[in-house]
Amino acid sequence: MSSPPHMQSFRDLSPAGAPGMKRSRFTYRHIQQLAASSTSCPLRVIAHLDLDCFYAQVEMVRLGIPDDKPVAVQQWQGLIAVNYPARSFGIGRHCNVSEAKKLCPDLIHQHVATWREGDAKWDYHPDAAANMATHKVSLDPYRLESRKILAIIKEELPPHLQKVEKASIDEVFMDLSAQVHTILLERFPELANPPPYDDPTEMLPMPSITALDWQADALVDLPDENAELEDPDWDDVAILIGSEIVRKVRIAIKDKLGYTCSAGVACNKLLSKLGSAYRKPNQQTVLRNRSIQHFLSDFKFTKMRNLGGKLGEQISQMFHTDTVKDLLSASVEQLKSKLGDDTGVWVYNTVRGIDTSEVNPRVQIKSMLSAKSFRPSITSFEQAVRWLRIFAADIFSRLVEEGVLENKRRPKTINLHHRHGTQTRSRQGPIPQGRKLDEESLLELARNLLSQIVSEGQVWPCSNLSLSVGGFEDGVTGNMGIGAFLLKGEEAQASKTGSGTATVDSETEIRPAEKRRRLDNGGIERFFAKRELSHGANPGLGSDDTAISGQSGQRLGTLKEEVMSGEPAGSEGVGKGDEVYNGKSESEPGPIITLTCSRCNASLDSPEELQSHQDWHFAKELQEQERVSQTFVNQPSASSSRAGNQKSTSTMPKRQGRPKKVERGQSKLKFG
Ligand code: CTP
Ligand code: CA
Ligand code: CA
Repeated sequence: MSSPPHMQSFRDLSPAGAPGMKRSRFTYRHIQQLAASSTSCPLRVIAHLDLDCFYAQVEMVRLGIPDDKPVAVQQWQGLIAVNYPARSFGIGRHCNVSEAKKLCPDLIHQHVATWREGDAKWDYHPDAAANMATHKVSLDPYRLESRKILAIIKEELPPHLQKVEKASIDEVFMDLSAQVHTILLERFPELANPPPYDDPTEMLPMPSITALDWQADALVDLPDENAELEDPDWDDVAILIGSEIVRKVRIAIKDKLGYTCSAGVACNKLLSKLGSAYRKPNQQTVLRNRSIQHFLSDFKFTKMRNLGGKLGEQISQMFHTDTVKDLLSASVEQLKSKLGDDTGVWVYNTVRGIDTSEVNPRVQIKSMLSAKSFRPSITSFEQAVRWLRIFAADIFSRLVEEGVLENKRRPKTINLHHRHGTQTRSRQGPIPQGRKLDEESLLELARNLLSQIVSEGQVWPCSNLSLSVGGFEDGVTGNMGIGAFLLKGEEAQASKTGSGTATVDSETEIRPAEKRRRLDNGGIERFFAKRELSHGANPGLGSDDTAISGQSGQRLGTLKEEVMSGEPAGSEGVGKGDEVYNGKSESEPGPIITLTCSRCNASLDSPEELQSHQDWHFAKELQEQERVSQTFVNQPSASSSRAGNQKSTSTMPKRQGRPKKVERGQSKLKFG
């Protein structure tokens, strides 16, 4: 009853063939689909790799700290990464430094690198923790390592067969299907034979082996021993080959960089991600198709991605259960009628482990942003310029790292946002193309934009500044086209490593995970619901103060104080205060870390993804502002016409929502 439909159908088709001769559940066509990495191929092999306590490992390797020492990475007084020896003392991200030291006096706690106000380069400053007002967190060290890890993964996989998607600063998905196909054919040449009657829908013979050597992999258990005795079919063989590839990749990362990671190998992204979190650290979990049901039935669906928040809660109430097992008895029609067609189908599939989303190799980035919220606010032009210097250096180093300068894909536009109370002002201008682009020239442009904003009058104190560059795309000329700033799906993702946006210093205390969890309002609206988004995606830049309605109309504005606290590292920026962190309890295998955008309820898996996502909102807001301020665009003010700049000012009073319809593309964007 509860097996995934695709599995079901193969079973139904199954024991065809000659009497007495067992046939595979798979067809010749499925083998062809495997070669093409088709998302509907039931043999597909997808791996997810997640670095163990990533930032902590980076610091350990950098500082040469032995593996068994307890280490945590500190941001102000909070902890943002905790290594496994430290976790054994009960230390987690929910602890602050003094709580953690009580639990383990020997804890080594290293503060993240910071930019000091006015400095041209980030560094590890011993006094950073005490100087939140004058320092800005830099995640560059982790981005750089992330990049190296990705490079090693790509080196390990055959260039023409690889499909690697960077999913966050410490995660990648790999579609291994095409490579597995090649290896399958080498090991089982009979698969290359033409199908009987030249009919690709003919069932394959069973694999010519009866036992598979899973080596050290954590195999997810099967419901009973009989299931284990069933002969391996081609999906088992394919996944075993995938697992061999993943093991090699993990060894290469460890050998070359010293980092351990955990991995999940399964037939899709949803399951491989659950698999990588299943056993940590330094393990890989293989989730064979035959074990999916059993694996998932132990789960609470509220632990599954996108079901951690409001939607999961809603479903639990409707169906009086929170287990996957119970929800399997709900028919798709029932789910559709209660949750709407798209969501109903999505839930139906998800609890069955069905996911046909593609592994997307990243496309080139389109914008970069650096920002800081000020507590206390800053009060002078000079002070602001000191921050602009940091932003310019931050953006420039990412431009260099991305190789955009060599690639001649230089940004064409620069944009400055300034917040004073509830009023947000922004200026945009072109980046002159004939001249050398460096930190100084970026700073000069930013300073010009700031001068224009300042000339408007009452602009101090300022609580947030953000600088962005965009327009990398060829063909974008002249005035900033919003397309240049729109980080869509993969680009948003891509931007987060080298270019990942603003580091948001956590200026608020880090609250206990439990509290964050309660606040998680995640849903899957981002996949489908234009209707929900249409009131959730309030484009006001002053979103800290703007009440946002969730799917069920719940006002997140009332949760603001708490929402603001769940602040992970590196998420500062325009969306300050918009994220909710669904903390992970160290004791459970639950892999779900959810950061939720309160503007639209999208759930993101990492601070970087959240930031990219918020950049997207940010871009939308700019777009909106551009529309609103068309007159300004067309008739530059005296102060901005000199540089051909654009100007916009917006005031976002509390609770002011715009009756704007969300653009069509928005609901299709996938940020996860
Ligand atoms: N991170 C963060 N704030 C959060 C969540 C994550 O700063 N709220 C950073 C962490 O510092 C971490 C990295 O993002 O090192 C990756 O996060 P994640 O994979 O969730 O956790 P890890 O620390 O890598 O631990 P695990 O071994 O459980 O994967
Ligand atoms: Ca990790
Ligand atoms: Ca991760």
